[in-house]
Amino acid sequence: MSMIVARSLSDLRDVVDLWRGESLSTAVVPTMGALHEGHIRLIAEAKEKAERVMATIFVNPKQFAANEDLSRYPRDEEGDLAKLEDAGCDLAYLPNADEIYPPSFVTTITLGGPAKAGLEDKFRPQFFDGVATVVAKLFIHTAADFAIFGEKDYQQLLVVTQMARDLDLGTEVIGIPTVREDDGLAKSSRNRYLSKHERHQATAIYRTLEQAADKIRAGGDPQVATKAASRSLMTLGFEVDYVTARNAETLAVPTRNDEPLRLLAAARIGKTRLIDNIPV
Ligand code: PAF
Repeated sequence: MSMIVARSLSDLRDVVDLWRGESLSTAVVPTMGALHEGHIRLIAEAKEKAERVMATIFVNPKQFAANEDLSRYPRDEEGDLAKLEDAGCDLAYLPNADEIYPPSFVTTITLGGPAKAGLEDKFRPQFFDGVATVVAKLFIHTAADFAIFGEKDYQQLLVVTQMARDLDLGTEVIGIPTVREDDGLAKSSRNRYLSKHERHQATAIYRTLEQAADKIRAGGDPQVATKAASRSLMTLGFEVDYVTARNAETLAVPTRNDEPLRLLAAARIGKTRLIDNIPV
């Protein structure tokens, strides 16, 4: 069966209503396109969880600041649709901007908890309001039972999980481990911005996080280990926004030594900002 492409909410609803009528479970993978192996892994997980799988492709202007890369964000609709079809996705939803944000649109969701951890929210203050707004709309539009997100955007995963729960959106959020290149670099649509030299340097993020995690596992102090990781990235030419150890469930600064920890980093190499995180 070939994949359905819905470009309006009413087209999407026609299909979703049909599936509901047949009591089929559904899962959605929200994306901004420029799909890579990481996204395809999310589709595979969605297929494990539900009988019908949807992917959304929408480059959400509300999560980009004026100085960010909205206009140069990679777009490849034809390639993306082919990849989704190959992956066995049942429906691709590509709403236009007016469908998501009609001219009269004024509502945003006020977030707390993991959205105020002082990580991405500190360096991209508009980001999570934009993400939460579009994700809430996409959950409502698709009425999916499950939504699959990558752990690569770990703070985003915790923010949308909390929001979906708090607002009873009826969609259960599931996180999937980060898919990496052979040399450890987390797969990301933004990796294609890297020059050959930067691409080589970029592997240092995962490597220094792993070194810090090893030190912590061996009994080292998380703050000392992450400071050393940050310094070593700076030495390699990165502009570091943060390298930090946080509680893996709340993203709060840890206060006890028996908390589950997550190491998170964001750093710029050249013009490209990369993020990554690992469990300890
Ligand atoms: O992670 C992304 O690609 C985006 O932030 C998302 C979740 C699709 C919302 O626009």
